[in-house]
Amino acid sequence: MNIGIFGGGFNPMHYGHLEMIEKVFFEKKIDKMIIVPDNESPFKKFNYTYAPRELRLEGIKIMLEESAYKDKIEIDTKYLFKKSITLTHKVIENYKKEYPGDNLVLIIGGDQFVDFHKWIFYKNILRQSDLLVLPRTQYKKTNKSIDDKKSNVEIMNCKISNISSTMIRRGSWKNNLPLESWKLFFKKNAFSESIIKEYVSASRLKHTKDVVYYITTLAIKNSLDVDACKRSAYFHDISKEWGIKKTKKYMSEYLFSYKNLPFPILHQYASADFIKRTYTEDNKDVLNSISCHTTGKKNMSTYEKVLYIADKINKGRKYKDIRFLRKLVNKNIEIGFLAVLKSSKKYFEDKKIELSKNQREMFEYYRI
Ligand SMILES: [Fe+2]
Ligand SMILES: [Fe+2]
Repeated sequence: MNIGIFGGGFNPMHYGHLEMIEKVFFEKKIDKMIIVPDNESPFKKFNYTYAPRELRLEGIKIMLEESAYKDKIEIDTKYLFKKSITLTHKVIENYKKEYPGDNLVLIIGGDQFVDFHKWIFYKNILRQSDLLVLPRTQYKKTNKSIDDKKSNVEIMNCKISNISSTMIRRGSWKNNLPLESWKLFFKKNAFSESIIKEYVSASRLKHTKDVVYYITTLAIKNSLDVDACKRSAYFHDISKEWGIKKTKKYMSEYLFSYKNLPFPILHQYASADFIKRTYTEDNKDVLNSISCHTTGKKNMSTYEKVLYIADKINKGRKYKDIRFLRKLVNKNIEIGFLAVLKSSKKYFEDKKIELSKNQREMFEYYRI
């Protein structure tokens, strides 16, 4: 029996992977497949972020539901949950012991083939298994260090869709993986930081991370949904650096009734609407919190309050009384919130900034 071994980070598994699976079965290259999600690839850069293992595994399971060959595929999780990294030659050696009478076929993408000669003990891999390469469109199919005329190396004549896990982690998910899978990763903030990096400058990213850090402590302390609070913090300023032209255009297209509000507050509505449309955010607490994070409003929920507070008094903000405000918030969120409002009002008065309708209603409602 030909047993396909398909390993990788699957961070996340995408339709390009599924195409590879369907192709090798369809072309009768293998009779059975073992998917081997790895713990951490030795080739990744030090700042590469892996989604939690459980999520990556769940993502694989969701994807395999769409495979015509799912009954012939198993997932081996023993390397995924190991503490240390296992190199491919060791994985192949172990399967060789487990399946002594069968033929192993290591399946890799064309992008991996280019560097295959850098894999540790790659010659051992080639001694113990066949190598089946499935090229993607833009990658060269050759590797001068590997003799692909050898009987056990085959470069398939195919063009696997040019989808990468990297582009998904940066937020380009539509048509690249199942909706259910995307929602799973998105809700757990698996890729929130890499998405927001696509939209904001380094200083705004720092501010965003400060807000995320602070809101996490507030969420835990006040028994709120931590992942939801973190999403509200990650994405609250996603549209902040769009500029006037793009923001006005977006407002005219999707949020017409808010269009003529003062420019500095438009981003709170645009950010909420944008993540709903683009990234499937559907949690009301998240959307509502983002929609009022700059102005506040009357009768705010605890979720709305914690984002408002975290945006105003996170560790990156510096002004008089801020440590006192943090102390109050830490002691009691309601009392702390009122103190933050008082301080905001004083700031507006000192600077003679005209209040928006939301702000006027809020100060009135909370009797500030
Ligand atoms: Fe903001
Ligand atoms: Fe902010």
